[in-house]
Amino acid sequence: MKTRLDSLGISFPFMIGPMVGISHAAFRKLVRAYTPEGLNPLIFTEMLSTKQIPHESLAKTKELRIFPGEHHHTPQLLGNNPALIEASIARLNNINPWGYDINMGCPAKHILQHNYGVALMGDPSYAARITEATKRFSSIPVSVKLRGQAGAAQDVNTLIHFTQTLQNAGADWISLHARPQAKGHKGEANWQLGTEVAKALHIPVVLNGGIQTASDAISIVRDFGADGAMLARAATARPWIFWQIAEDLGITSKPKLFPLKNAPRSPAEEGQEFVRATLLLLEYLQELFTEEDFIQERIAFFTALASPWLDFGHSFWKLTTRMNGVEDLRQRICDFHEKCSLSMTEKIKFW
Ligand SMILES: Cc1cc2nc3c(=O)[nH]c(=O)nc-3n(C[C@H](O)[C@H](O)[C@H](O)COP(=O)(O)O)c2cc1C
Repeated sequence: MKTRLDSLGISFPFMIGPMVGISHAAFRKLVRAYTPEGLNPLIFTEMLSTKQIPHESLAKTKELRIFPGEHHHTPQLLGNNPALIEASIARLNNINPWGYDINMGCPAKHILQHNYGVALMGDPSYAARITEATKRFSSIPVSVKLRGQAGAAQDVNTLIHFTQTLQNAGADWISLHARPQAKGHKGEANWQLGTEVAKALHIPVVLNGGIQTASDAISIVRDFGADGAMLARAATARPWIFWQIAEDLGITSKPKLFPLKNAPRSPAEEGQEFVRATLLLLEYLQELFTEEDFIQERIAFFTALASPWLDFGHSFWKLTTRMNGVEDLRQRICDFHEKCSLSMTEKIKFW
């Protein structure tokens, strides 16, 4: 699908947005394992504090780790101080990112207290200065992730004005979480906002919020005129979604790990694959991280976020919250896979 992201070298305009506690190297590796060869979707890191990064060890800090051979990973920066952004970028350049993203959408209270995240949407000229500074320090694409309604952008016109300010400040593209700040991650996203903003800007506009299926993602580009679709929570339930999208677009390459299979489709195929994906995630977590507590917490959070889509979500999540070591957890997941009837729901409501 050709969109304006093509000008940045992105020909498969589907991506996975930043999620704290989920977007670590093992999850990114899991999604790549299910992605057909030759496709290079962007996958974000979780938000990374520019107050911390300059002092962190790339080898020791789990959130900064990448997996061998990783590419098209995009760190998301949280901050509002150009000197710290510069120092963070200097350090993160060592992990060879594809681009940098600036967080202007996080509404968490402790983030707002520091006047960054979605607080930056309260002051367009300050937001522009942060964008300019990030661009100045970086030789790779810089994007901004923002909200559909927040701060100085309370309706479509002010949102367009805000995004044009970022465009003029040098942002290479933006992503729009099309829910108001006040709604957090709940309720319907307003995809029409993507159409309006994409029309008004000359840089690519990627839409985020409530995208759950391959056909939703394709429709965001085809019917809503956005330059790309960014998934978040649904990608925990369907880490194979890029494979489904590729098949629906007539792309014939397969994931290297599954050269003979088709993407899971039916509720039963998807339900069974989810349990297999959890085992694969466990393997990648063990490969990349050593601390058992961390591994168990990451598995439990993954199953918790995915659980609304799983007909067996509650019992599976509960199973992953207790373990007697990683081997015990693996065995219990295998037993669950053998004994339980597993299926998945296509779409949920985001209450
Ligand atoms: C657990 C969790 C962590 C998140 N962490 C971040 C983050 O670090 N940075 C960010 O910009 N958005 C973050 N988000 C927001 C998502 O990137 C996305 O905008 C939001 O979930 C809406 O997309 P969805 O409806 O497809 O889930 C997070 C969301 C969740 C559920």
